[in-house]
Amino acid sequence: MDLLKAAGHRVVGCDLGLFDGCEFSSVVRPDVEIAKDVRDLDIRDLAGADAVMHLAAISNDPMGALDPKLTESVNREGSIHLAETAKKAGVPRFLFSSSCSIYGKGTKSDLCEDDELAPVSVYAASKIAAERAIGRLADRHFCPVFLRNSTAFGGSPMLRIDLVANNFLACALAHGEIRIMSDGTPWRPLIHCRDIARAFMAFCEAPADLVRGASVNVGGNRENYQVRDVADAVLRLVPGARVHYTGETGPDPRNYRVNFDRLGKLLPGFKLEFDLESGLRDLAQSLKAAKFSAADFSGPKYVRLKTLQQRLHLIKAR
Ligand SMILES: NC(=O)c1ccc[n+]([C@@H]2O[C@H](COP(=O)([O-])OP(=O)(O)OC[C@H]3O[C@@H](n4cnc5c(N)ncnc54)[C@H](O)[C@@H]3O)[C@@H](O)[C@H]2O)c1
Repeated sequence: MDLLKAAGHRVVGCDLGLFDGCEFSSVVRPDVEIAKDVRDLDIRDLAGADAVMHLAAISNDPMGALDPKLTESVNREGSIHLAETAKKAGVPRFLFSSSCSIYGKGTKSDLCEDDELAPVSVYAASKIAAERAIGRLADRHFCPVFLRNSTAFGGSPMLRIDLVANNFLACALAHGEIRIMSDGTPWRPLIHCRDIARAFMAFCEAPADLVRGASVNVGGNRENYQVRDVADAVLRLVPGARVHYTGETGPDPRNYRVNFDRLGKLLPGFKLEFDLESGLRDLAQSLKAAKFSAADFSGPKYVRLKTLQQRLHLIKAR
């Protein structure tokens, strides 16, 4: 939000507020706030906009599994509805927040956008279905782009500690321990959340003919890590922490190492501002300054699944 406003844009935000009260620090508000379900947005809400950046979703695998029908309703049907409405309203550009997790049980290393998708969750399947349906809406007046984001990490006003790197760091600071639920071998591409925001900005400004209908992995070739590498990066910041393999999940079926060459071709000027090391260092400072505690770590505030479980009455499958 702050990036968009700093660039001089007038921003209209739409959010159901599922995580209201979960702020880590003060949030920059949009110029206009629409507090409603994206599935209820209509042409009047969107008319006149230069672009829609669609991020609202049930936003990871465990949340998706909580209520699969809800996940499909919001992530697939809601996204298609929003794209159709944007097109009818004459909005020329539609950026969809997809995910590298659609590669799931990666069938090879260094997965490119045209490689086989192997989703292992309702969440991932909902993102694929939305990409495909919205892709069919592309024409010379309507330019959808699918940003397949790496797993986010790093500090933000809406901090999440349910994301692997943030979780390891927060646990190390709060408990002196890093808890690895898998055997530590799965690959994940990681990206600082601020770099995701920068990529959205860049895809807003890219020439339509270059990006129309494109699916693009968003991250960096050097930012693929095995989960145990993430633990090592945290250990360098919190040297006394113990590494504990809890074995809770058994072998993690999600294992994907991703290639980001298309991003470099489409946006040659775009460079990541953070790598894992610098992003974690930055977050460690913020968590220490906020005296992030064991209670913060185990509470619902920064863990989307726990909060959603308490607030499921606010959002229903349709
Ligand atoms: N966090 C990641 O690692 C990651 C990685 C890849 C892709 N993504 C995608 O990026 C997007 C944003 O992720 P995030 O981490 O900020 O998720 P988040 O859960 O923190 O935020 C999602 C927001 O969407 C809102 N929302 C959910 N359903 C809604 C609805 N029907 N109508 C209106 N608002 C609704 C929630 O209130 C919440 O504020 C999601 O689409 C997610 O799938 C996230």
